[in-house]
Amino acid sequence: MNVLIIGNGAREHAFARAIAGSSRVEKVFVAPGNGGTALMGGNVVNVPLKALQLDELLEFARENRVLLTVVGPEQPLEAGIVDRFRAAGMKIVGPVQAAARLESSKVFAKDFMRRHGIPTAGYRVFRDLPAANNYVESISSATFPPQVIKASGLCAGKGVIIAFDKDQALKANGELFEDRIFGSAADEVVIEDFLHGQEASVFALTDGREYRLFLPAQDHKRIGEGDTGKNTGGMGAYAPAPLVTPEVMRKVEERIIRPTLAGMAEEGMPYTGFLYVGLMIDRGEPSVVEFNARLGDPETQVVLPLLKSDLFDALLASVEGGLGEVPFLMHEGAAATVVMASGGYPDAFETGKPVVIEPGTEQPDEVTIFHAGTSLDDGQLRTCGGRVLSVTALGSTLQESLERAYRAVGRIRFEGAYYRRDIGAKAL
Ligand code: AMP
Ligand code: GLY
Repeated sequence: MNVLIIGNGAREHAFARAIAGSSRVEKVFVAPGNGGTALMGGNVVNVPLKALQLDELLEFARENRVLLTVVGPEQPLEAGIVDRFRAAGMKIVGPVQAAARLESSKVFAKDFMRRHGIPTAGYRVFRDLPAANNYVESISSATFPPQVIKASGLCAGKGVIIAFDKDQALKANGELFEDRIFGSAADEVVIEDFLHGQEASVFALTDGREYRLFLPAQDHKRIGEGDTGKNTGGMGAYAPAPLVTPEVMRKVEERIIRPTLAGMAEEGMPYTGFLYVGLMIDRGEPSVVEFNARLGDPETQVVLPLLKSDLFDALLASVEGGLGEVPFLMHEGAAATVVMASGGYPDAFETGKPVVIEPGTEQPDEVTIFHAGTSLDDGQLRTCGGRVLSVTALGSTLQESLERAYRAVGRIRFEGAYYRRDIGAKAL
């Protein structure tokens, strides 16, 4: 059986690794993939098609006897790739367009949570500047509680501004509605209450009825150590996140995951594929910061290596049903991943730098280097993106996995390489 993976990041490299070894899988195509998937060899092949070339991807899948397609990023989900493949009788992992609105429309997600009593920050929705400004003006200046101002549409994780006083909130409204810094993604704007606590992410795979949980993870979104500086796609992650105790997980299932799946089914758009629940946990009480319709990057690079069972079998069951019956066991221990980025990221950075990895850096079952922004040109590995590599290690403890990951990072060189030295530090 052949599998097609769509996307070009470290997340998709991790999918390729997890799927290529499955006994039932013949070829794994990655569209477009990256230098890491190009180097895998064996049954893994890059295909020069981009994630939004829906017609071409469908044609490719049909012509190459692809039994199952796995979608990494959110844009093709928003564009309706699952609807298209299904209409053509093809099996694909992910939610249909209407259900993917849990990620692609914050207004949809917030209203859905309100309809179903799912815990999340209080909010209002605005469609023009005067209304948004009136609302901000109506809040007392003296006790102004921080407001989180969000573009409703997809913004690659960057469409959120936290305003600590009235002036900042009015400025943010102007940037979204007048300066259009997020373009049409901010045609609708959510202004919500600031949640206190610590963030973690929980990932479910679902066939629309039953669901299975990966280990909870924690991302590091800021560029700087101590969670300072600009937001990025994510600079490192680890799992399991001790913050998500069994008791918290029980609450997440009871109050968030089950009502979400039941609510989506009840509203006529059963949710299938991966559900990413971004949580704020305050004194053991979880609420939803955001939903995503896919797995996270870099979280995938720790949650998939910790899955002991066959990922392909679970993915197929999420499409065909019967997900409750497939094995879904985790390894003991922990995983950590450290992202190595191009100097300057998330602002402007240079590309084309040769990447040198000392032989022996990767160790079976211990250290895996997932590629994000690399390309393989005439046998030379070069940087081609902001996030370049995601270096993952497993260990019997979080401490051990972090030590191994950082030791491996020390054996990798490219000009201008930057990484955070405090991944996982909060959990130790
Ligand atoms: P989002 O795109 O909704 O995930 O928001 C991006 C980041 O902004 C989150 O990961 C949080 O760190 C922060 N954030 C979003 N909403 C809130 C909120 N209501 N309270 C506190 N922080 C928030
Ligand atoms: N790491 C955050 C995300 O994938 O959205």
